[in-house]
Amino acid sequence: MLTGAGVSAESGIPTFRDAMEGLWAKYDPSQLATPETFDRDPETVTRWYDWRRKKCSRAKPNPAHLALARLEKHLATQKRGFTLLTQNVDRLHQAAGSRNVVELHGAIWVWRCTRCGIEREERGGPFGEYPPRCACGGARRPAVVWFGEMLPEEAMEKAGEALEACDLFFSIGTSAVVEPAASFIHTARRRGAKTVEINREPTPITPVVDWSLLGKAGEILPEVVRLAFGI
Ligand code: OAD
Repeated sequence: MLTGAGVSAESGIPTFRDAMEGLWAKYDPSQLATPETFDRDPETVTRWYDWRRKKCSRAKPNPAHLALARLEKHLATQKRGFTLLTQNVDRLHQAAGSRNVVELHGAIWVWRCTRCGIEREERGGPFGEYPPRCACGGARRPAVVWFGEMLPEEAMEKAGEALEACDLFFSIGTSAVVEPAASFIHTARRRGAKTVEINREPTPITPVVDWSLLGKAGEILPEVVRLAFGI
């Protein structure tokens, strides 16, 4: 399974390619999510991530997250593997009960000091200053992967192993344009996996999947899981 921001859209978390809201309407997320912008303007970048962190803290798993967690449990009773590769940083999959989740882009809850490297989970209210500061005086940033940065090595290894062993690949709620996740489907296909896409609209991978299901993940996924797996 590969998931993207569309899976959390029905939980009230804006996707990256949907219009930015309110105060942030004039910004382009692909510009904000870069180490260069953070170096130049750490205040704006950390304010934006703190705004997203607040959205995430109010969000609850939706029927798409819950269906994936149910499916994992069901497959475990049959001793079948299930890996959820997610580009989402909100941890709603884990909140829904998913266990084998690989965070490809990190987590918005974890903030790292750019000077001493210490990471700390931040579940409380808004920061008092932007960028928030570490005890050592360094500026702190969200421990998420930005454009131009490497994905965590361990996550990439786990993704590689899952794709090698994969016989059924779902791409759900992702625009399938950001690498390396955008290429996962091709690895799975080469390995002989059947492929399914669930998205509100067609994407670059729609022409190559075995089944394309157009619509909301929170409506389609529970139905697919019920019909295909009887749960
Ligand atoms: P995007 O914002 O690029 O794409 C969201 C996708 O979800 C779009 O294809 C929508 O059509 C679809 N969508 C929206 N609502 C949906 C719903 N209710 N049900 C099903 N599909 C829906 O998000 P990602 O593909 O996750 O990376 O973006 C990938 C990465 O690019 C992100 O992790 C982030 C971003 O910039 C970084 O910040 C490095």
